[in-house]
Amino acid sequence: MRIAIGSDHAGFNGKKTIADELARMGHEVIDFGVESPERKADYPDIALRVARSVASGDADRGILVCGTGIGMSITANKVRGVRAALCYDEFTARMAREHNDANVLTMGERTTSIHAMLRIVREFLGTEFAGGRHAARVDKIMEAEQNSEGC
Ligand code: RB5
Repeated sequence: MRIAIGSDHAGFNGKKTIADELARMGHEVIDFGVESPERKADYPDIALRVARSVASGDADRGILVCGTGIGMSITANKVRGVRAALCYDEFTARMAREHNDANVLTMGERTTSIHAMLRIVREFLGTEFAGGRHAARVDKIMEAEQNSEGC
């Protein structure tokens, strides 16, 4: 898979560990920064880059890490075509894919251990959308998005 990844300074260590692991797993990783934890960044700047990469089809999935995962999630969901899910364990990661067809995963390095983040990433990437009744619900989300401005 081609995976867009990014973090602010608060999520740098998680992002770096995940990016290394994804590369080891054979995925193609597009890293949108930040380049170091000393490099203070505004999380919306990074979230928009990753979200737009997924929305344009350049990346298959996106992964974003900040302090809590909340700011990344709020921002990524402003981009039309993106369904970003803040996940904090393997169950929420599985549901985000099976029920919500999430295409961007967000996590918090101040709330979730890096070890847990790696398990969450594996679950997120390894789970297919279940379709069926869930497809009709996701369609409603996308319809609502068509009626909003997006970016
Ligand atoms: C940075 O201090 C922090 O606000 C950010 O990483 C994130 O948690 C925002 O949602």
